[in-house]
Amino acid sequence: MKNIDWKNLTFGYVKTDYNVRCYYRNGKWGELEVSSSEFVNMHMAATCLHYGQEAFEGLKAYRGKDGKVRLFRWEENFKRLQRSAEAIMMQQVPEDIFREACIKAIQLNAEYIPPYGTGGSLYIRPMLVGSGAKVGVSPADEYLFLIFVTPVGPYFKEGFKPVKMQLARDYDRAAPLGTGHVKVGGNYAASLRAGERAHKEGYAATIFADAKTKQYIDEAGPANFFGIRDGKYITPDSGSILPSITNMSLREIAKDMGLIIEQRHVEISELGTFEEAGACGTAAVISPISLIHDRETGIVYQISKDGEPGKWSKKLYDFLTGVQFGEIEDKFKWCTIVPC
Ligand code: PLP
Ligand code: COI
Repeated sequence: MKNIDWKNLTFGYVKTDYNVRCYYRNGKWGELEVSSSEFVNMHMAATCLHYGQEAFEGLKAYRGKDGKVRLFRWEENFKRLQRSAEAIMMQQVPEDIFREACIKAIQLNAEYIPPYGTGGSLYIRPMLVGSGAKVGVSPADEYLFLIFVTPVGPYFKEGFKPVKMQLARDYDRAAPLGTGHVKVGGNYAASLRAGERAHKEGYAATIFADAKTKQYIDEAGPANFFGIRDGKYITPDSGSILPSITNMSLREIAKDMGLIIEQRHVEISELGTFEEAGACGTAAVISPISLIHDRETGIVYQISKDGEPGKWSKKLYDFLTGVQFGEIEDKFKWCTIVPC
């Protein structure tokens, strides 16, 4: 076990010992390689550096109450990486390479998995980039698939405490027929200006409106949005948001708890009617939202009245994290035990 201040981990980069790499060259994927270098040596004309051929994933492994290490829903992250690769014309990674690379990266860095009870987890960051040289705009012939891991704490420093968010209409993170539905680097570059402005103005994150009509909620910069009202779990349906695996899981849990699931357009004007709202994602887990400030109209939608997470948000959070930390039965069969 490494000498790390586990309880005060943030969502930042901590160096670990190894990463795992695999190269696609001459029309085929090679063997998995283990590296202890934090650097990637790459051709200066690689397509990821010029034309944005870059996709990534984010998943977590947890040290459970029983000491076992659980990897959460890696198959879903694999499927999403396939969709991202397809969307920006990159070579897809075979499933066995993805799975083995995840497991190897966890096992080789097992000493960096935060101990049970600290609230931390091991964040796993797979990435796929066009490494082949091109000057004309076209897909690369060579690709690098790499996974590194890093121990993390909460994404928002407040943890499971309601945060303020800012609704922005003057920036779009993704176009309606663009790449918002896949996890490619360009979406995050496009979200940076709005996100940094939100931080400077005192908000934890930006919530983007749909780019076409600006009438509906799309999602937060790094997480999906959900609201709860009258026994309903309501979450946006939009072609330009990332299908969140956390949101998918919460919908299953919510349904099981008796909530009605509505996945549909969510009007901005509806924000004031929610009894609870939150941002959800691997990094964010559930981040309850206290209020949303509409930067353009000045309207403040107050959601949490007492500064505490709502009843349903707490139940959902407890169930999800309970499964991840092996505290309650994994009845949906979401976790893969990784021997280490
Ligand atoms: N939306 C965006 C834009 C994200 O970057 C993420 C993080 O992956 C999510 C939503 C949440 O997705 P997931 O729950 O699969 O981590
Ligand atoms: C995640 O939740 O895994 C993310 O990728 C969000 C953010 C760090 C980009």
